[in-house]
Order: sequence, then C-alpha cells, then structure tokens
Amino acid sequence: MTKAIRVYEKGGPEVLKWEDVEVGDPGPGEARVRQTAVGLNYIDTYFRSGLYPPPQYPYTPGSEGAGVVEAVGEGVTNVQAGDRVAYGTAPLGAYAEIRLIPADNLVKLPDDIDDVRAATMMLQGMTVEYLLRRTYPLKAGETILLHAAAGGVGLIACQWANHIGATVIGTVGNEEKAELAKAHGCHHTILYNEENVAERVREITDGEGVPVVYDSVGKDTFEGSLDSLRPFGLLVSFGNASGPVSDFNLGILAPKGSLYVTRPTLFTHRSVPGRLQEMAHNLFDVVQSGAVKIEVNQTYALKDAAQAHRDLEARKTTGSTVYIV
Ligand SMILES: NC(=O)c1ccc[n+]([C@@H]2O[C@H](COP(=O)([O-])OP(=O)(O)OC[C@H]3O[C@@H](n4cnc5c(N)ncnc54)[C@H](OP(=O)(O)O)[C@@H]3O)[C@@H](O)[C@H]2O)c1
Repeated sequence: MTKAIRVYEKGGPEVLKWEDVEVGDPGPGEARVRQTAVGLNYIDTYFRSGLYPPPQYPYTPGSEGAGVVEAVGEGVTNVQAGDRVAYGTAPLGAYAEIRLIPADNLVKLPDDIDDVRAATMMLQGMTVEYLLRRTYPLKAGETILLHAAAGGVGLIACQWANHIGATVIGTVGNEEKAELAKAHGCHHTILYNEENVAERVREITDGEGVPVVYDSVGKDTFEGSLDSLRPFGLLVSFGNASGPVSDFNLGILAPKGSLYVTRPTLFTHRSVPGRLQEMAHNLFDVVQSGAVKIEVNQTYALKDAAQAHRDLEARKTTGSTVYIV
C-alpha cells in the first residue's frame, strides 16, 4: 500500500483527498517511479475545478515529478531501475508517492540538478523553451510583454528572455512581485491592477508596441494584450489564470493591425518525435550554465496539496512550488 491524492468530483481544493492506493507492476512501455518531489502547476487547478475535464473520476492529479525508477516493463529501453529521472509532460498521476508512467515521458537527470529543482522546472521550463524558441523565436534586441512575470513560468521566462538578449516588460500583481521579477531579468514592470498595460507598453516602446505578448492570465488581460502589440504582432495566449478567453471576435484583429493570435500547449510540442529530449536538453543547458535559476519559493508536503492549491489560486505564491514526497 502507498499514498496518493485522489479526486472523485470537480470542485474546490477540498476535493483533493489523501488516500491509500495500490500500485502494480509496470506494463509494456511503462516504468514505476518512486517519487521524491512533485511539481505544482496552475494546470492542476484547471483539472480540479473542471475547467479542463480529467480523463476519468477518480483520478490522481499532477503532470510533473522527479524520483528514481524502481522497475520497467517490457520494451522500455530509455531508462532502467535505479535511474534518477524527471518528467513534465506525463498523463495525470503525479500527486503520488509511487506511480506508473509511460516511460517515454521520462528524462534522465544530470547529477548537478537535484530532485526538488527538477520536479518544478520540467513543465514550466519546457513551456518557456517552446514559447521563446519556437512559438515566437525571440531575438536579441526585441522587446516582449510577459504577464504574471513573478510566477513559476514567469521567473523562468524573464531570465531566459534576458539571456537571449531581449528586453522584458512584465506585469505583476504587487510591488513585492515587481522587485522579484526585476531581480530575475525583467527590465520594466507594470502593476496591472493599477496601471493601464497597453498605455504603459506604448510609453516604454516609444509608441511602437511589442512584436509578441506572452499571456497566461487570459480573460482579464486579453484586450490589453492585443492593444500592446505593434502591427503584425503575435499574441501567444497560453493560460487562463483569471478565466478562459471566450466570445473571441476574429474581426478585431484587423483594425488593431493585422494581428496574429495562437493558443499553444506544451503537449502539442512534446508530441513531435524527438522533441521532448531536445526541449529538456535546452532547459538543462540554461540551468546548468546559471543563466536561469529555478526559484523554488514554496514547499508543501504532498498530503497538504489542498493548501497549496488555495495559495496558488489566491496569488500568494511566487516562482515555483514543490511537494516533498
Ligand atoms: N499552454 C501551456 O503549454 C502552459 C504550460 C505551463 C503553464 N501554462 C500556464 O501558464 C500560467 C502560469 O502557470 P504557473 O504554474 O507558472 O502559475 P503562476 O504564474 O505561478 O501563478 C499564476 C499567476 O497568475 C497571476 N494571476 C493573474 N490573475 C489571476 C487570477 N485571477 N487568479 C489567479 N492568478 C492570477 C498571479 O500573479 P500576479 O499576482 O502577479 O498577477 C498568479 O501568481 C498558467 O495560466 C498556466 O496554465 C500554460
């Protein structure tokens, strides 16, 4: 018998239950991982609330973790028992002491990346990799607008964009978060609850606007993001922290400057053959070189997942959050 969080119905953080579960032997293509650390991500709240439907009930939440492979099933060649591994694109099931996982989601960890950092950097870090290098291949000298700049994805993106040589304009919820973002390579901060984002972006860019906006906040920031773009600019809408963007009128892209909008996911990028290892390698490179520091600012026991969800949704967290198993 081992422990895991189980969810039987959609709802608030109280639906996260800490229970005994049985974990069997790995089937063909699977590995069994004894986890040491698990990452908290905003997407975990979308599945819990029902914004994104989980594949079935009951289910165990979570898409990111690190630990040691205990056993592998038939046909698995990329990892073996005893390997230290991490993952950030797995099917749900990370909030568990021990889990089964399709082995092709696993990446072997370099010795100098510890389990806690690994368990929080895979999903957020590979997201930043595809946002900055693939969705809009960012170049030195360009200026970007990035929402929620002091969050998990946000702090990684500030540092990575800075490393590329871009100028970062970041939005944040309060002064403390502004200071934190600035300490991680964000050149200009906007308190988006108090200031008009598009007006401030125009001021900072001498009226021009930015070529790309990375927007994970969704409903509350969508209009301001469009209004911050220069002609032919790209809005990358990649999350819904304030709620989903609905009733989108395609026609408004014309008068605002022949704009582009995309709604990418890590899972589409990860599905390209060979891409997972490539993205993980690029992430490890910037972390190992010191260009990107993974700031694990909150730690919870896995059984306290409900409190972690409450704090994340109340905007109390900064940087990345880990569950210790
Ligand atoms: N599409 C993808 O592939 C992909 C992959 C990973 C993550 N994401 C998305 O990226 C975003 C960031 O994820 P994360 O795990 O790093 O979370 P996070 O940024 O650490 O936390 C969310 C932040 O959003 C801001 N926010 C603005 N309005 C909010 C509201 N009404 N309620 C709650 N928060 C609000 C808060 O920062 P302030 O207080 O500064 O406003 C909050 O701290 C999420 O939307 C997530 O879904 C997308």
